[in-house]
Amino acid sequence: MSKLRIAAFASGRGSNLAAILEAIERGSLNCEVVLVMSNKRDAGALAIAAEHGIPALHLAAEQFASPQEFDQRLLDALAEHKTEMIVLAGYLKKINPSIIRAYRNRILNIHPALLPAFGGKGMYGRNVHQAVLDYGCKVTGVTVHLVDEEYDRGPPVLQRCVPVQEDDSAESLAARVLVEEHKIFSEALQLFAEGRVEVRGRRVVIRDRQ
Ligand code: GRF
Repeated sequence: MSKLRIAAFASGRGSNLAAILEAIERGSLNCEVVLVMSNKRDAGALAIAAEHGIPALHLAAEQFASPQEFDQRLLDALAEHKTEMIVLAGYLKKINPSIIRAYRNRILNIHPALLPAFGGKGMYGRNVHQAVLDYGCKVTGVTVHLVDEEYDRGPPVLQRCVPVQEDDSAESLAARVLVEEHKIFSEALQLFAEGRVEVRGRRVVIRDRQ
């Protein structure tokens, strides 16, 4: 089976990107990362891409005269690398509608909580885990979901629970959630690589392996 060609967008350290690359190297993920794009020149994700010989692109909206020009440059890069899916691996910018339209149901995001709880604007990084603790939740988790026009609103593909412990800080909770993130993102991508994902409205149905 041919490899699913994915582009990763990332703003930060890139540990989810690194986990995806490890899963590919282990042979448990039938994908190829064909492009890494970041809005931050110094993002760890761009360095990881360079180490792996993956084309790395720094693209920020500020470099362009209009959102349309930014989108076109991005769409051109995605097309140039024959991108089939996009993963948002810690990408903190909103995806513009023209990109969503071009890759409808083919953009995945990972969120470090069980959506729709603790999602939306401002809910990223430490804020998410602190909000979970402040609410007094007993469980949190990870959501891999399709991306639509709103932050953290697209339908879930996979979710996994992580128990909150009595002595958790935002940092300790983030660290345990991250362990699950690193597994579940590749699992979700592999489902797409195997052609087992069917989107029925908000229900993302995972078909059995043939
Ligand atoms: C992760 O916690 C992810 O859930 C969120 O952003 C963070 C990115 O971390 N969307 P990393 O850059 O992959 O290490």
